[in-house]
Amino acid sequence: MKIVSVVGARPNFMKVAPFCRALKAYPEVEHLLVHTGQHYDVRMSEQFFNELAIPQPDVNLGIGSGSHAEQVGRTMIEFEKVVRAERPDWVVVLGDVNATCACSITAKKEHVKCAHIEAGLRSRDMDMPEEVNRLVTDRLSDLLFAPDRISCANLAAEGVPAEKIKFVGNIMIDTLEREREKAAALDVDEIVRSNLVEGVAPPPSLSSYVALTMHRPSNVDSRETLVPAVRFFLDEVCAEHPVVWAIHPRAQKMLAEFGLWDEVAAHPNMVLVKPLGYHAMLRLNMGASLFMTDSGGLQEECCVLGTPCLTMRWNTERPITLMENGGASILVGNAVEKMRDAYRAQIAAPRRAMRPELWDGHTAERIARIIVEEG
Ligand code: UD1
Repeated sequence: MKIVSVVGARPNFMKVAPFCRALKAYPEVEHLLVHTGQHYDVRMSEQFFNELAIPQPDVNLGIGSGSHAEQVGRTMIEFEKVVRAERPDWVVVLGDVNATCACSITAKKEHVKCAHIEAGLRSRDMDMPEEVNRLVTDRLSDLLFAPDRISCANLAAEGVPAEKIKFVGNIMIDTLEREREKAAALDVDEIVRSNLVEGVAPPPSLSSYVALTMHRPSNVDSRETLVPAVRFFLDEVCAEHPVVWAIHPRAQKMLAEFGLWDEVAAHPNMVLVKPLGYHAMLRLNMGASLFMTDSGGLQEECCVLGTPCLTMRWNTERPITLMENGGASILVGNAVEKMRDAYRAQIAAPRRAMRPELWDGHTAERIARIIVEEG
């Protein structure tokens, strides 16, 4: 049996690591890993392969940055060549990035079965590129591996036959459970020192801090949303707590474009660090009084670690992580008044870890077994 798995961007890497490991239990499976190359910087890609012992990709399609059509189109053209040369039994795609969508379409057009890990998530926000990717991939896939029961219900409501929907849990939590001890041993001050953005002064030792990430186009690409949010971080949050901001290349570019970069970099309580590796980010999360983020993955990690979280989005495809469902996160969109109220409520909140059903560290094993049994 031959399986081709596809990764393209940072959030895919922590999901594919346990899947690669789980497949080793099946020597009859030939497993090839394809990297589309959407993320290519060492800090966005290679460091995760090294830290999580992911096998080197057998093929890198070298797609790089570009518009959505450019990325999806180039990926389909290059991935089709791989599928034609290898003729796998299964193409396995993960998450909701452009690689997920491009390679599921390509697989099905080549009459190859497709399995989607992290199926059934729905934000119902069609302005989100990831929602488009999820809908296309789930519509085409032959096996849909859902992380929670809400996602299973979403798929059933869309008419996906029950035998294709497999409730297996959240594969990212496999990685969290495997790596958390290693992360816990790291020192936050050392993480900050060794990842500081050039030109940023090293802060004094951080006994407590707020963590921040932001990268979604809806938050960072427009002046109207980015400027008030950054003013809130600098004028209100940084006035009370050091803020460690792990800055995504997209956000860095837009801060410079809107003339905010110098002020952000010079603020004594704003600690700007480069994109962090897996263990460093997990350690930062474990020690944060509060996490402000627009990342779905971090929202899930906050839920399991119990870190109070402000999700800077109006909707979420991961409702299971919200406080009303027992999780750690509050949706605040990009309205400063909402951020402020939730910040006040959450900064004083105790850590309260929550573990949704089957987020138990064994999701990849369940997925590998089902695919192998399916044949
Ligand atoms: C992509 C995913 C998003 C995911 C995010 C995590 C899609 C549609 N979006 O968004 O779901 O949450 O990854 O990071 O697939 N850049 C670099 N170095 C890199 C990669 C990108 O500098 O290695 C810069 C480029 O200027 C690029 C920009 O970041 O134009 C955005 O990268 P892109 O791959 O288009 O999307 P992300 O915003 O990272």
